Amino acid sequence: MKLLVINGPNLNMLGVREPDIYGRTTYADLCRQLEAHAKNIGVQVELYQSNHEGDLVDKIQEAYGQIDGIVINPGAYTHTSVAILDALKAVAIPAVEVHISKVDKREEFRQISYVRLACCATITGHGLDGYLEAMDLLRERYEG
Ligand code: DQA
Repeated sequence: MKLLVINGPNLNMLGVREPDIYGRTTYADLCRQLEAHAKNIGVQVELYQSNHEGDLVDKIQEAYGQIDGIVINPGAYTHTSVAILDALKAVAIPAVEVHISKVDKREEFRQISYVRLACCATITGHGLDGYLEAMDLLRERYEG
C-alpha cells in the first residue's frame, strides 16, 4: 500500500508559526515521524508540501493510479479551494482530512471545509498525531 501525505500552505513553517496553536515540532520532524510510522504499520509513504494551490492540484492528479490513500492538510486552502475538492473527487482516492488545530473552535471562516466533501474522514485538534491516525484509518480501510 502506498500513502501520500499532502500539506498545504504555511505547514512548512511548523515549529515557527504560531507555536501556541501548532506546537514547536518542525515540518522536518513531522516528516521523520510520518516516515517512522509508515514503517511501523508496513506501508510506503510519500510526503509533499506546497504553498501553491495549483501545485497541490497537480500532485493530487499525479496520484491517480499510483497511490492508495491520501492524507491531506490543505491549510488555509481548506476553507477556499473548490479546485482541491474537485481534484480529490476526480481521482477518487480515499482521502482523510487532517487539521492540527481545533478548526471547529476557531474563527467562523475556518469552520467551512470544501475538501471535507471529498474525504472519508476528518481529524481535527489532535495535533500532529492526527496525521498518524489518518494513516491508520486509510490502512485499515485498504486492508478491508
Ligand atoms: C490548519 C487550520 C487552517 O485553518 C490553517 O489555515 C492552517 C492549518 C490546521 O492544521 O489546523 O494553515 O489546517
